[in-house]
Amino acid sequence: MADIKGKNVLVTGGAGFIGSHLCDGLLAKGASKVVCVDNFFLGKMENLEEALTHDNFVLYRDDARNFGVLQAIMEKEEIEVVFNMATIALNYSFFNPFDAYMVNVEIANTLLELLKVGAYKTLIHTSSSEAYGTAQYSPMDENHPTDPTTPYAAGKAAADLMVHSFYKVLGLDISIVRPFNNYGPRQNAQGSLAAIIPATARRIKEGGMPMVEGDGEQTRDFIYVEDTVRGLILAYEKEESRGKIINLGSGKDISINSLLQGICDYMHYDGEWEHRPARTSDVRNLCADSKRAKELLGFEPEIDFTQGIKKTLDWYMG
Ligand SMILES: NC(=O)c1ccc[n+]([C@@H]2O[C@H](COP(=O)([O-])OP(=O)(O)OC[C@H]3O[C@@H](n4cnc5c(N)ncnc54)[C@H](O)[C@@H]3O)[C@@H](O)[C@H]2O)c1
Repeated sequence: MADIKGKNVLVTGGAGFIGSHLCDGLLAKGASKVVCVDNFFLGKMENLEEALTHDNFVLYRDDARNFGVLQAIMEKEEIEVVFNMATIALNYSFFNPFDAYMVNVEIANTLLELLKVGAYKTLIHTSSSEAYGTAQYSPMDENHPTDPTTPYAAGKAAADLMVHSFYKVLGLDISIVRPFNNYGPRQNAQGSLAAIIPATARRIKEGGMPMVEGDGEQTRDFIYVEDTVRGLILAYEKEESRGKIINLGSGKDISINSLLQGICDYMHYDGEWEHRPARTSDVRNLCADSKRAKELLGFEPEIDFTQGIKKTLDWYMG
């Protein structure tokens, strides 16, 4: 068993939603140094308020695709472990499909080349349930076929294949974690790349109405961000995870209609909903089989949806 305590850790995308919670989690678990590399495409300084109170937190505003930049940072900060969290949100696929795909592949490529030359020791790579596409059976285990429906998801699936092939060919120290839909404080609420929970809360708060795309009966498996962070750190610590893809989900699917109704109830909103046509390429159903996470990591989510959504909405409304 490895111990994150005492390690120098680099988090790509550490100023984003999950990445910033991961930085906080790593600092709380006693990492010697936590180094965030984020180009602030969607990252925010306010996400790092807690992390920046620690002397052993270091922030670089830089591009994780850049081999030379990352190599210099790794050498200077004596990095041992990398958590790859950087990406550009799924909805970017609709504006700039090429870059939505390439960013995932290029960052993984850079990190693998650096691992290969010994710039650091262990890569915990983050995939996404979107790599599976719509559930062909449910719950979805890690042997479920990958059939991505967006360039973002295709980039995640391609990066996973590349990461796994480097593990097989070179025996590098790598685990791949595949989270399902995350929610919690700090998720992006603004603009065309906003996530559904904060976007809905913001619309209602500003006097607007919730918006549903398609019939709203599409389902997702929601996992609270602090559970995901615990799973990511366990993936480093439990070396049984090396060379494996591991789902992190709740094993429960919730329809978008139920999700929106829950937000409306919490916010005492009983007005109309705006209905828009279904998004092209929207995944219909996602639900995780979490047996592998339990077996290899001893991981089970601790925060159920009722608790998690309350914590989340309290934060957004606070
Ligand atoms: N949020 C979810 O529901 C979810 C579900 C499954 C998997 N994931 C995965 O988890 C990871 C984190 O997702 P998130 O929701 O926190 O996304 P996010 O958009 O909030 O964070 C991603 C961060 O990466 C940064 N970034 C983008 N391009 C970069 C680059 N070239 N160099 C450096 N930084 C760059 C952004 O500025 C942002 O801060 C991603 O790999 C994502 O695919 C997320």
